Amino acid sequence: MARFPNRVAIVTGAGSGLGRATAALFGAEGAKVAAVDLMAETAEATAAEITATGATARAYACDVSDPKSVESTVAAIATDLGRPQLLVNSAGIGGFAKSEEESPERWASIIGVNLTGTFLMCRFTLPYLLDGGGTIVNIASNAGLMGQPYSAAYCASKGGVVNLTRALAVEYVDAGVRVNCVAPGGMRTPLTKGFRLPEDADFDVLRPVMSRIGVSEPEEVAECIAYVASDTARYMIGSIISIDGGLVTYGGGFPKPKTSPTNPAAAG
Ligand SMILES: NC(=O)c1ccc[n+]([C@@H]2O[C@H](COP(=O)([O-])OP(=O)(O)OC[C@H]3O[C@@H](n4cnc5c(N)ncnc54)[C@H](O)[C@@H]3O)[C@@H](O)[C@H]2O)c1
Repeated sequence: MARFPNRVAIVTGAGSGLGRATAALFGAEGAKVAAVDLMAETAEATAAEITATGATARAYACDVSDPKSVESTVAAIATDLGRPQLLVNSAGIGGFAKSEEESPERWASIIGVNLTGTFLMCRFTLPYLLDGGGTIVNIASNAGLMGQPYSAAYCASKGGVVNLTRALAVEYVDAGVRVNCVAPGGMRTPLTKGFRLPEDADFDVLRPVMSRIGVSEPEEVAECIAYVASDTARYMIGSIISIDGGLVTYGGGFPKPKTSPTNPAAAG
């Protein structure tokens, strides 16, 4: 049985990667999907994929870091599709930099999209969720739960998303709105393709943030999001669900070096 029949679901970052996989799954589960992305054409491609299956979807170009853009987009979704009941905040950006070289502009941009953007989407969707119930799934990262080198802005933004989730969860616990967070580890998506490590990056400090079993597919994480958003998860409130190949639990360590000058015990 479909898990989201006729429910209006807003998915940000729906033009690519995890957002796209989530939008497709929600569409297959009966939701009327608002595919929201900064890139109009990719949002439209996702919406077209969903409607081609016979499900309902519409694309919306929106910059989640811009309050006016978010406010008008959410209002348009409510007019076009009906009262939003589900919100998945998957839009995100990142990149590596040594903190002593990080530009204040890039810091502001990563915090602006990942943390402020998540808040703004919640802020302008909550009045609809409160009007009859609903649920929010924020997307953090293993980087919001552990230190990741060369990623201060990204870690700070995702750590912020983790505790933003908890704050909203307790604020609305009695109001029929569940708020939770899914924290993926590495996923096979376009996100990290443009990331460039600092030239003299130290791989010994990077190894602990790589899972021993490699990366996940975005569809695997979308399944987790769908469960968290579904009525079956009614008892899940303010949870931070890691789906990261065990990374946060055991501290990563892949690929295991055949020989290591700094750790002879790892040899062989
Ligand atoms: N890929 C990974 O390894 C990984 C790991 C952990 C967490 N995450 C998180 O998962 C989420 C999805 O990442 P992904 O891997 O699918 O990335 P992706 O780059 O494939 O997709 C991100 C989407 O967000 C959109 N976007 C960027 N800025 C936006 C803005 N201002 N307004 C609206 N949309 C905007 C992009 O256009 C893109 O379509 C992100 O929050 C990311 O931080 C990703």
